[in-house]
Amino acid sequence: MFKKIILGLFTVLLLIVVIFSIYVSSSWDKKYDIPYPTLKSSTDSAIIAHGKYLVTGPAHCISCHVKDYNAMIRADTSLMEPLQGGVLFPMGPMGSLSPANLTPDPTTGIGRYDDGEVFRMMRHAVKPDGTATLSIMMPFWNMADDDLIAVVSYLRSLDPVENETPGPNYTFMGKIIRTMAPLFKPVTNSTPPAIAPAMQPTIERGKYLAHYVANCVTCHTNRDQMTFTAIGPEFAGGFEMEPMEPLHVKLGVDPDLWTRAPNITPHPNSALSKFKTLDEWIERFRTGRIIEFSPMDWGPFSRMTDADLEAIWLYLHSLDPVENEIGPVIFKKE
Ligand code: HEC
Ligand code: HEC
Repeated sequence: MFKKIILGLFTVLLLIVVIFSIYVSSSWDKKYDIPYPTLKSSTDSAIIAHGKYLVTGPAHCISCHVKDYNAMIRADTSLMEPLQGGVLFPMGPMGSLSPANLTPDPTTGIGRYDDGEVFRMMRHAVKPDGTATLSIMMPFWNMADDDLIAVVSYLRSLDPVENETPGPNYTFMGKIIRTMAPLFKPVTNSTPPAIAPAMQPTIERGKYLAHYVANCVTCHTNRDQMTFTAIGPEFAGGFEMEPMEPLHVKLGVDPDLWTRAPNITPHPNSALSKFKTLDEWIERFRTGRIIEFSPMDWGPFSRMTDADLEAIWLYLHSLDPVENEIGPVIFKKE
């Protein structure tokens, strides 16, 4: 009798595992039928110049879409690194991702895609092939129409570089998380403005940059390590960031060193409050990277205009102060 119950339970459990595995295998790489935005790229030189400012500055596409870790280090200080993609981003037990080739090459770059396909990626986190990506990695879905047009117009104006990038590589664990976690689903509720807030030092401009362009909010909010769902107040810090091992090796630093994003709400103990004046704040960004393996995009952010840096300063100071002592910024996992 007892044996039968155990056997019965075991069979049910096995069945659940089999059904779940079939479900994951058939849906992890699902294609989504999300409509294409109707935006069109432009060849106007002023629009292209604005796109260059965004791609190499606040929107920091250049931090990721390069060929390898050497290029990533160079891109932090020079603007000219080709956006040919290919570097590998390890995602721990989930596998790896590789930023795509954003040059207009017709066989390996965005020359393969029409405007609708590229704009849909930016606005809905659905790749040109119809599969979804990790949305918060490129959280540009509420970037204004005019800024998004500028970004894509600039990319289309670049010299094409032929470079086949490896694409994503999910382990079975990665496939399970991708099937279940909401941040791996398309973004369907974007509410972008038609025109970005003017490049003036206003709270409105700062909020727009911190959330939808410079992505301060993704890193400076505590998140679950597996699903990346927010588990703390926005901008209060605490998110622990896994080392990019190959980058640490290139830089000759201990590959076990993690970083933790600090609190940037206006609490007296926060990293924001270290800066007593706007001049000190701007000076910190102009200095660029101090911790050489920091995941923060210091190079691109150092290229922001004074007005944009001031806008972010004003916005962060308009937030409710949150007390959150995050401990050391650099640490080792036990
Ligand atoms: C934090 C790193 C990061 C940043 C910053 C970033 N990207 Fe990406 N991007 C990626 C990765 C990784 C992929 C591949 C995703 C995948 O395969 O699921 C990707 C894919 C893409 C794709 C899809 C292309 C294809 O062939 O599938 C486009 C288009 C794109 N990015 C454009 C941009 C633009 C434009 C910017 C700046 C406004 C930008 N990205 C900023 C990491 C980044
Ligand atoms: C990719 C993740 C990431 C993004 C995006 C990011 N940060 Fe950070 N930030 C960090 C980490 C990690 C640190 C701690 C290491 C360091 O100081 O470089 C940090 C440090 C800081 C500091 C403290 C610097 C100091 O000298 O003590 C400030 C201020 C800051 N970030 C503001 C911002 C703002 C503003 C934005 C958006 C424009 C932003 N961060 C975007 C990860 C990020």
